[in-house]
Amino acid sequence: MPKINCYYCDKFHAARDSYNVNSATRDLGSDAPRCDRHWRFVCAKCGGSFHFIGTAYCTETRQFFCSNCATESVEIDEQTWGYVGYSRYQSPWSGNWEPALDRLEFEGNHPLDDVALKAAAESTISAEAMLTRYPPSGGALRESREFSNDEVQQNWNVNALRWDANYDDDGDRNRRYQSDETMLELLGDVRGLKILDVGSGNGYLSRKLSHAGAIMTGVELSDEFFRIATERESSDQLGIEYHNRSATDLSFLKDATFDKAVSNYVLMDIVDYELALSEVARVMKPGGSFVVVISHPAFAAGIGTWWKPAVDSLRREDRESWLTDSYFDRGPFLGAWGGFDPVLSFHRPLRDYWKAFRAAGFVVDDFEEPSITERGRRELPAARIAQSLWMPYSCIFKLVKTA
Ligand SMILES: C[S@@+](CC[C@H](N)C(=O)[O-])C[C@H]1O[C@@H](n2cnc3c(N)ncnc32)[C@H](O)[C@@H]1O
Ligand SMILES: [Zn+2]
Ligand SMILES: [Zn+2]
Repeated sequence: MPKINCYYCDKFHAARDSYNVNSATRDLGSDAPRCDRHWRFVCAKCGGSFHFIGTAYCTETRQFFCSNCATESVEIDEQTWGYVGYSRYQSPWSGNWEPALDRLEFEGNHPLDDVALKAAAESTISAEAMLTRYPPSGGALRESREFSNDEVQQNWNVNALRWDANYDDDGDRNRRYQSDETMLELLGDVRGLKILDVGSGNGYLSRKLSHAGAIMTGVELSDEFFRIATERESSDQLGIEYHNRSATDLSFLKDATFDKAVSNYVLMDIVDYELALSEVARVMKPGGSFVVVISHPAFAAGIGTWWKPAVDSLRREDRESWLTDSYFDRGPFLGAWGGFDPVLSFHRPLRDYWKAFRAAGFVVDDFEEPSITERGRRELPAARIAQSLWMPYSCIFKLVKTA
C-alpha cells in the first residue's frame, strides 16, 4: 500500500524545511489523514479524547488535559508552523499556563520527544482509528412543526445567565468588535429622543443609549432577561422602563409614541416576526427610523457548517470555508455555540425580511454588513481578525416609518 503523508506533518514541513514527515496511521481515506503524534490525546481529567491542538501537557503533574478541562485559554499572536498564532491553556491541576501540543512541538518540547516521557505519552494517544463524520456537526435538523413564543421564552430563560456573563457595558465580543459601531451610526443622534429597544435582553443597549441621552423603553419576552435588566436598573437608575412582554403584542403602548426604535439580533428569534414588525410600526412616529440588526441569513442564521479537513480541529485557521445549506427553506434551527444550550432561531431568506419591512409600513433607507472595527483590529488575536474578514455575521437595516 502506498504511504500517505500526515496532513499536519505536511503543513509543518511547508513551514519548516527540516521537519520530518510521518506517514498517516489514522483517519485514512479522509481529507486529513494523520500520524499518531498529530492524532488525538486522552485527557487525564475528563477521559475524553481531543485533537492534539486542543490538548496541552501539564509539566507539573505530567498529564495531558483538554481545552474543555483547562481553567482558561488564551490565543497568542506568535507564528507557529505557518499559523498566525497558538493557544495556551491553564492546567486544572497546577494552574500553570501550558502551550497546546502543536506549539510545544514547535518549541522542541513535545513529551513524545523526551525519552523519559515517551512511553507514557504514547499510551495517552487515543485508540480511535477514525473520526465520525455523520451525522454532520453544526446546524441542526429542521422540524416542520410550528414553534410558540413559550418555547422561545423557555430557551432564552435557560441561556440568559450564561449569555449575560459574556457581556460588559459594550455587549459581547461580536457586538463590541463588529456590529454595534455600525448599528449606532445608523441610529444616529438619540439625545432627548424616545426610543424602543425591541427584545432588550439584559438591557446593555438600553443602558448604552440611555447614557447617550435617550429616553429608553425595553420590551423583552424572557422573564430571566427581564429580571437581569430590571435588577440592574434598580441598582443603577437610568429611568429605563422595561416590559416583560412579547413584541408581537405591544397593546400596552400607544400609537405613534417613539421617535426611533432598535432591535439588536432579535427578529430571527421571533416566531411571528411580521406581527412584531407591524406592532413596532404602530407605536412609532411617522418619519422615525427603526434600526434592525439580524444574524446574517446567508452565513450565521441558518443551516451551515465549517469545512475543515480535520473535522475535530478547534483551530480557526484549520477552517477552510463556510458551507451554507438550504438557504431557501424557512424554518427553525438550533445554533450550537458558545457553551449555551442550543439557541433556537428561525431562518428566513433575506428577501422575506425585506418584504415584511415594507408590508409593515417601513421603507428601507440603508443597509449594512458590518465587518471588524478598528478597535477589534487592535484588541483581538490575529486568527479571530482573519476570520472576521471572511464574511459578515450580521446585517443591519435602517428602516423609516412611512406616514
Ligand atoms: C440574541 S438575544 C439579543 C438580546 C439583546 N437585544 C442584545 O443584543 O443583547 C434575542 C432576544 O430576543 C428576545 N425575544 C425573542 N422573541 C421575542 C418576542 N416575541 N418579543 C420580545 N423579545 C423576544 C429573546 O428573549 C432574547 O432576549
Ligand atoms: Zn503528523
Ligand atoms: Zn478534559
